[in-house]
Amino acid sequence: TLPKRVKIVEVGPRDGLQNEKSIVPTPVKIKLIDMLSEAGLPVIEATSFVSPKWVPQMADHSDVLKGIQKFPGINYPVLTPNMKGFEEAVAAGAKEVSIFGAASELFTRKNVNCSIEESFQRFDGVMQAARAASISVRGTMWHSVRGMAPGCCVLRGCCALVCAPPPSWPITTFEKQKSKLTEVVPSQPPPKQVAKKLYSMGCYEISLGDTIGVGTPGLMKDMLTAVLHEVPVAALAVHCHDTYGQALANTLVALQMGVSVVDSSVAGLGGCPYAKGASGNLATEDLVYMLTGLGIHTGVNLQKLLEAGDFICQALNRKTSSKVAQATCKL
Ligand code: HMG
Ligand code: MG
Repeated sequence: TLPKRVKIVEVGPRDGLQNEKSIVPTPVKIKLIDMLSEAGLPVIEATSFVSPKWVPQMADHSDVLKGIQKFPGINYPVLTPNMKGFEEAVAAGAKEVSIFGAASELFTRKNVNCSIEESFQRFDGVMQAARAASISVRGTMWHSVRGMAPGCCVLRGCCALVCAPPPSWPITTFEKQKSKLTEVVPSQPPPKQVAKKLYSMGCYEISLGDTIGVGTPGLMKDMLTAVLHEVPVAALAVHCHDTYGQALANTLVALQMGVSVVDSSVAGLGGCPYAKGASGNLATEDLVYMLTGLGIHTGVNLQKLLEAGDFICQALNRKTSSKVAQATCKL
């Protein structure tokens, strides 16, 4: 059965822009977020408080967060990898933060420059400080291990992911790509343990992410079946990248299994600087179109969303990846 309403988490301003080589001016980012708020997105991931040396595009995080209109009822979470990021985010007015890690040693090292265990120690610090400051914490966790379902899992609010090893895992996983089939891939924590731990840390929502977009509907089903043994469906979200054109199909499977929170990115922007070749997220316009067709309420005004997509594509001087936006242009 499908949910009656779906909460869309718009990740365009963060996941969408973080991979852009040329720096997007701060006022453009602010205008994009304001337009997305106008369009009725209930959650908009605004920016990342990460190192500007690592992700120069997010260096203006404080100005972006301070500059946007805060619409009542809309959440504007920001990514905070450690205490430094958390403190700066709170100083800039963040009311919700996301911690992010991975159940892949290789990706964790590439992404946040430490081991999985160290990243969890950082989570602990952020969680404690957040609790003391009454800041909600979302967790994102990337999981791309061979044998994991979709390319990885993003765990939000605090993460958890439990995946059944699919027998026919595509060869193009991050670990395989990066290890070039010669290096020994470091052992990974059992996903069930990760899931339990992260859930018990207090994540209010866990987003299972296919960062490199290699998942297929069957893998999504297997992965969710396993996760659902550990985490209630109401606390789960999915975050699908569209590298192999499977994002919408994977999302539909998740909806059929009762998931009612979906991450997506306006104009299908996105990618991760530390997952080369991964393409953008599921386009929010395409998601809204499908949900509307299914009679599922989102609260999003598609026309205004299309305008926001058009605005950012013009600013980036690129074509939209949203099929709906492309079709609407031609009509
Ligand atoms: P590090 O170099 O290991 O940190 O970076 P460090 O603690 O050793 O400090 C080194 C320097 O960084 C110091 O400055 C610190 O002050 C500074 P220096 O003394 O050299 O001048 N520093 C910071 N500066 C600003 N903000 C901070 C911060 N922390 C330390 N928060 C760090 C560790 C995590 C900061 C770094 O590795 C980093 O920024 N990584 C970027 C990670 C990132 O943004 N990845 C993309 C998002 S994840 C994603 O896209 C996947 C997702 O979408 C899921 C999916 O798609 O499935 C979520
Ligand atoms: Mg992502």
